[in-house]
Amino acid sequence: MARLKVGVLISGRGSNLQALLDACADPAFPAEIVLVLSNVAGAAGLGRAEKAGVATRIIDHKPFPSREAFDAKLDEALRSAGVELICLAGFMRLLTDGFVEGWRGRMINIHPSLLPRFKGLRTHAQALAAGVREHGCTVHWVTPALDDGPTIAQATVPVLENDDEESLAARVLAAEHDLYPDALRLVAEGKVSLPG
Ligand code: GRF
Repeated sequence: MARLKVGVLISGRGSNLQALLDACADPAFPAEIVLVLSNVAGAAGLGRAEKAGVATRIIDHKPFPSREAFDAKLDEALRSAGVELICLAGFMRLLTDGFVEGWRGRMINIHPSLLPRFKGLRTHAQALAAGVREHGCTVHWVTPALDDGPTIAQATVPVLENDDEESLAARVLAAEHDLYPDALRLVAEGKVSLPG
């Protein structure tokens, strides 16, 4: 069976990228990473990709005159690498509606909260401030509204009495590393698709 060709977009550490690289290292896994693209030249995740023998590309957003122009360059790089599905993994740029529509049903993201709660940034601080007992992470389809697309999979972790942002983030991140490969498998096997 042909493996789904995945492009991963990152901006930093790349620990979720690492979880995906590790999953894809198994030839029986239904997806393979054909390109890791970063908008930040020094992103640590680029080294992870290189170590795994995966092609990397840096496209710095700063010289582009508009978000549309940057997204057009991303689109060209992804298509010329034969990417069939985009995995956002800590990619810290907002994508234009045109780009998102062009990859409709073929782009997924991991977000560190149980969506629809705690969209945006500092999700662990938001969860602590709200006093929830359960927190977690979500893999979802990317649609034009931020952190709003239909859910593919979620994982829950407890919020403990003495948690601070850092301890809670670490617990959620460990759950992310299990969840993202599981969700990618579901997508690659055609078991889930974007409704509509
Ligand atoms: C993760 O918490 C992910 O959920 C969020 O950004 C963070 C990226 O971390 N979208 P890493 O670069 O994968 O380590």
